[in-house]
Parts: sequence; structure tokens; C-alpha cells
Amino acid sequence: MFYGIWMVFAVAILFFTKLAYGETCETGTIVPLYLYPEIKNGVHNWQPLIDAYSNYSIPVWAIVNVHNGPGLQLDANYVHAINLLKANGIHTLGYVLTNYTRRAMSLAKQDVDNWKTFYEPEGIFFDEMSNVRDENNVNYYKELDSYAKGKRFNVTVGNPGTAIDLAYVDAVDTIMIYESSGKFPHFSEYCANANYPKKKWGIFPYNLQSIADIRESILAAKNCVGFIYVTDDFGDNPWDTLPAYLNELFSLLKI
Ligand SMILES: *[C@@H]1O[C@H](CO)[C@@H](O)[C@H](O)[C@H]1NC(C)=O
Ligand SMILES: *[C@@H]1O[C@H](CO)[C@@H](O)[C@H](O)[C@H]1NC(C)=O
Ligand SMILES: *[C@@H]1O[C@H](CO)[C@@H](O)[C@H](O)[C@H]1NC(C)=O
Repeated sequence: MFYGIWMVFAVAILFFTKLAYGETCETGTIVPLYLYPEIKNGVHNWQPLIDAYSNYSIPVWAIVNVHNGPGLQLDANYVHAINLLKANGIHTLGYVLTNYTRRAMSLAKQDVDNWKTFYEPEGIFFDEMSNVRDENNVNYYKELDSYAKGKRFNVTVGNPGTAIDLAYVDAVDTIMIYESSGKFPHFSEYCANANYPKKKWGIFPYNLQSIADIRESILAAKNCVGFIYVTDDFGDNPWDTLPAYLNELFSLLKI
């Protein structure tokens, strides 16, 4: 009897903790901002991101990518544009290619150094992250993560673009588990693993022309995934424009 009452309490506490977590844990976005910063018709082409952020103030992380990385010399247009984002409350991540661990560790580390020297983003984004169960591969990312943290980048994001072996979960702070064209699933299985907060996971589906058509999918994914970006852009580089519906997307992520 006594035990039974405690069980009821325990279940109730679990239930309400889960509810509170789902309600209070905000959803942000990680945006691959792979368009050269410039003024077009009198407006900076990164400005729509700043406007959408100022309307909704959800956590926004922009991935900046000069030349498949930071490049070898400083580009003043990027310095200006990155400072513009920072001054307006948008977080930045510097792009580093890893080629599924095939890229030499020394070159990846050199990129981390150059991001620090040239542009000082807050975090680092490791693209083409391996997802296969292999201890050496996992250690490659753990070493890069430690290296970046040692250089005082406080956030790391890895992008396998698909589901990943759980051995990688602690290698970086956030893992992009989906980068594909067209309609996307609800990702409810990521809620089932309560060991990880939803900000452990991010998605960026592309080639979605109508936000109305994916409204339900966004709201469902929001329960389990902490960073969501979608775009109407497509083709070889689906990240070289911002979507026409950026404000609507942010409003869905906010509510
Ligand atoms: C990745 O590695 C493979 C094999 O070494 C190579 O053929 C390919 O060009 C590399 N890709 C990039 C983007 O560096
Ligand atoms: C990262 O560090 C900077 C300054 O060192 C700080 O302003 C920012 O809030 C930190 N971001 C996170 C997500 O911890
Ligand atoms: C958000 O910002 C843009 C640009 O300033 C504006 O056009 C838009 O109407 C704003 N409001 C909403 C609710 O999207």
C-alpha cells in the first residue's frame, strides 16, 4: 500500500517533469548561411536573418563558410557580416570540413585556428561527420572537439546529416541528424531517449516549397529536436538563399 502510493508519486513526478521540459525548453535553429555577404539593392543579403531574429528572438546559430572553411586569408566582407550578426544577437559557427574523418586532423585543426585568428565565431561546425560505429572515427571527433574547446570555442556541432551511432553522442555538443530534400519525419524516437536534452539534436531539411504543408511536421519535430531549419532552396547548394518563409518558420519555432 505504502509502496503503491510512492509509485503513483514517482509516475506523477516523471509525467510532470516531462511536460515541463517539453513546454519550457525552447527550440532554436542552425542555419547554413552559405551565401557570400554583400549589399544587394541597398540591403545586406544577411539582413533577413537579423530581421527574423529581432521579430522572434529564438536561439539562432548561423554557420559561416568562407571557402569550405575559413580560407587562408582574411576577407573583410566576412569580418563585417559576422560582426553584424554578433551585434544583433545571432550566434555564429565556423565551418570545418572533415570528410568523414578522411581529412587530415592537422588540416582540420588549422581551420579551427584560422577561424579564431580571422573571425572569432563562438563555435565550430564539423561538416561531413562520420556516423559509422568505429572507435577511431569517434575519437577523431572527440579530439577535434577538445581542440576547439581548448581554443575557447564554447560550442561544437557535428553534421552526419543522418542518424548516428550513439557512441558519437558525447563527441560534440549538438548533432545534425537530418539533411535531406523534401518532406521529413517527426523524429519522435529522439524523445524516447530521455538521457539527452533536445538541444543535442538538430535537423535541416531543404527543397520544401510550402511552409503550410510542413507545419505539422515542424510542430511534431519540435518536441524532440532542439534546432530546426527548413528552406525552399534546392540544387547543388540549397543554402545560398534564405527561404521566403523565414519569418513564418521562426514563428512556428517560437510558439
Ligand atoms: C574526401 O576524401 C576522398 C577520399 O580521400 C577524396 O576523394 C575526396 O575528394 C575528399 N573530399 C573532399 C571534399 O575533400
Ligand atoms: C559562448 O561564450 C561567449 C563569450 O565567451 C558567450 O557570450 C556566449 O553566451 C557563450 N555561448 C554559449 C552558448 O555558451
Ligand atoms: C518581421 O520582420 C520583417 C522585416 O523587418 C517584417 O517585414 C515582418 O513583417 C516582421 N513581422 C512578422 C510578424 O513577421
